[in-house]
Amino acid sequence: MKVLLVNGSPHEAGCTAAALAEVERALHEENIQTERFFIGNKPVADCIGCGKCRETGRCVFDDVVNRLCEEAASCDGFIFGSPVYYAHPSARLLAVMDRAFYSGGKNFMFKPAAAVLSARRAGQPASMDVINKHFSICSMPIVSSTYWNHVFGNTPAEVAQDKEGLMTMYNLGKNMAWLLRCIALGKENGVNAPHNEKVKTNFAR
Ligand SMILES: Cc1cc2nc3c(=O)[nH]c(=O)nc-3n(C[C@H](O)[C@H](O)[C@H](O)COP(=O)(O)O)c2cc1C
Repeated sequence: MKVLLVNGSPHEAGCTAAALAEVERALHEENIQTERFFIGNKPVADCIGCGKCRETGRCVFDDVVNRLCEEAASCDGFIFGSPVYYAHPSARLLAVMDRAFYSGGKNFMFKPAAAVLSARRAGQPASMDVINKHFSICSMPIVSSTYWNHVFGNTPAEVAQDKEGLMTMYNLGKNMAWLLRCIALGKENGVNAPHNEKVKTNFAR
């Protein structure tokens, strides 16, 4: 079983990475494989709504988004980490998630996920809500922890002092491992993901 740890910060070894590392530690203790996925610090285009992905299954912009979707196909669970910017997740991560879920949603569907946030001071709950919405319209079980999945800090050294935040990350990793095992056991015993109905009314029809 493998969990993809997506780092939506422009800093590969920053505060978000420190939070993800603590989730990773718990997952490794439970013998769950992990892979880190850094979205980088180059500009990322937002979705242009061209609909081409409906024909090809890939985004027309062949960048980090298509790589993420390819990685996602072989993963069983996801942690999406982001710094808080003006009380929302990084715009770059949101652009990546919008495009990845629109073009490659099938690679994420029915797989458990969680958001983790890092902030100097405030804005994590609103940011977590934004990321979680991607999971909740993609039939993905949202993994919880023992408190909000947040760390405080402006530097990794500050995050290291946030003992409760790090404990929450650790417990999140343990909860993810538990849920992954439950799902795997379910599959072994014939409990498979449901077939979801799809009706689009666009409110007017
Ligand atoms: C443009 C920008 C906006 C920010 N807005 C907030 C904010 O609203 N609330 C907050 O507590 N910290 C804010 N911060 C601080 C970062 O969220 C914080 O330093 C975070 O831990 C950085 O994570 P990283 O090292 O993984 O990039 C902001 C930082 C930047 C660069």
